[in-house]
Amino acid sequence: MIDTELKKKLNIAVIGGGGREHAIIRAIKMSPLAGKIYALPGNGGISESAECVPVSATDLDGIVKFCTENPVDFAAVIPDDPLAMGLVDLLEEKGIPCFGPRKNAAIIESSKAFSKELMKKYGIPTASYETFTELEPALRCVREHALPVVIKADGLALGKGVIIAETAKEAEAAVRAMMVDEKFGKSGKTVVIEEFLTGPEVSVLAFTDGKTIVPMPASMDHKRALDGDAGLNTGGMGVIAPNPFYTKELAERTMNEIILPTVDAMNKENRTFRGCLYFGLMMTPDGPKVIEYNCRFGDPETQAVLPLLKSDFVKIMLATRSGTLADCEVRFSDEASCCLILASGGYPEKYEKGKPIEFDDMPKDILVFHAGTKKTDAGLVTSGGRVLGLTALGNDLEEAVSAAYEAAEHVEFEKMYYRNDIGARALAAIK
Ligand code: AMP
Ligand code: GLY
Repeated sequence: MIDTELKKKLNIAVIGGGGREHAIIRAIKMSPLAGKIYALPGNGGISESAECVPVSATDLDGIVKFCTENPVDFAAVIPDDPLAMGLVDLLEEKGIPCFGPRKNAAIIESSKAFSKELMKKYGIPTASYETFTELEPALRCVREHALPVVIKADGLALGKGVIIAETAKEAEAAVRAMMVDEKFGKSGKTVVIEEFLTGPEVSVLAFTDGKTIVPMPASMDHKRALDGDAGLNTGGMGVIAPNPFYTKELAERTMNEIILPTVDAMNKENRTFRGCLYFGLMMTPDGPKVIEYNCRFGDPETQAVLPLLKSDFVKIMLATRSGTLADCEVRFSDEASCCLILASGGYPEKYEKGKPIEFDDMPKDILVFHAGTKKTDAGLVTSGGRVLGLTALGNDLEEAVSAAYEAAEHVEFEKMYYRNDIGARALAAIK
């Protein structure tokens, strides 16, 4: 199937509509194999380079209907929700090959109880933990636990279902909020209580076809809303790559102790993972440990990492599907990259939408990835918490970071805010 398709251009449907999908569509467009590109639903920036179709990423019936009624040759399913809901299975049943894991493999992200059990069973290093479905034993556990203690809702909670409690009282309140008040919905009915780890965080995205796994340059997300890692957890406020804390030795150890064993473990469980597997890691004093797995590209990691790809992204996606990744060229530039997120005042809590976005003289080499934007008759306006990601490449990290900050001077919208210290810790580590 794939071989003959390689001879013609492919019409590709990209599911999702954030900054990450904008970066993915840019990479697709650079491939000579790319035909028409559809984005479901896309956003204001994506509409410049793809046909945006107003179908939400979780409207599985709508997506299958669109892809079967239009000349779609291949679908790239990017966000966690449709992957967890089994969109890849549905599309492939209809004969549309996909980039992304099937539902039985996407569980590596959608259930923390599953992923923790997997790591325990296969000896993959992670924080020690216990899983609870009943309130009283969970409360007993946190009362006796060393502090701080980490409490996680089992299911998908947009990166917000993790509470690090400094006191037993805070820990009890967190358990009650998840299990009794269902603050994170049904995803909090099962909670995971785990040991608090320390050390620099590293994100590794990796292409895999279930046999071969090819890591991309490691990156560092900045998850908290405010400078100095203060404020609430967000989806991510900025990323730098490569991550200087991920030394050659640590990368080798991580490959042998975490990355390869994870792919093997999923095969042994008959849950072969194909697509992009995301390793959220912590470089602890005892070596690399897994904080979380995601079954997809990270956002905003993708906006920093994918622009470094030198090889044909469409070919790579096809190879993850056909099991030929070993024969596919996957090469990255040795430049550095920084993606700075421009957010709406108030994010990740309440924020206003519909604010006009003004650009003036944006330097040409800056990649402007739209996350929460909308095109209206009056022009481009904000439509989300994270509005834009500005990615700059440089010969080294310092160049990339300063170019991204310089670029931010060329954008304006009411109540725009961004962190002032993206990359600061990484730069300090290099010096
Ligand atoms: P997660 O959604 O699992 O990625 O967690 C969100 C953030 O919480 C992570 O990026 C870490 O900064 C922090 N975190 C999660 N688990 C732990 C842990 N066991 N120890 C320390 N920090 C953690
Ligand atoms: N940036 C973290 C994530 O995509 O989950």
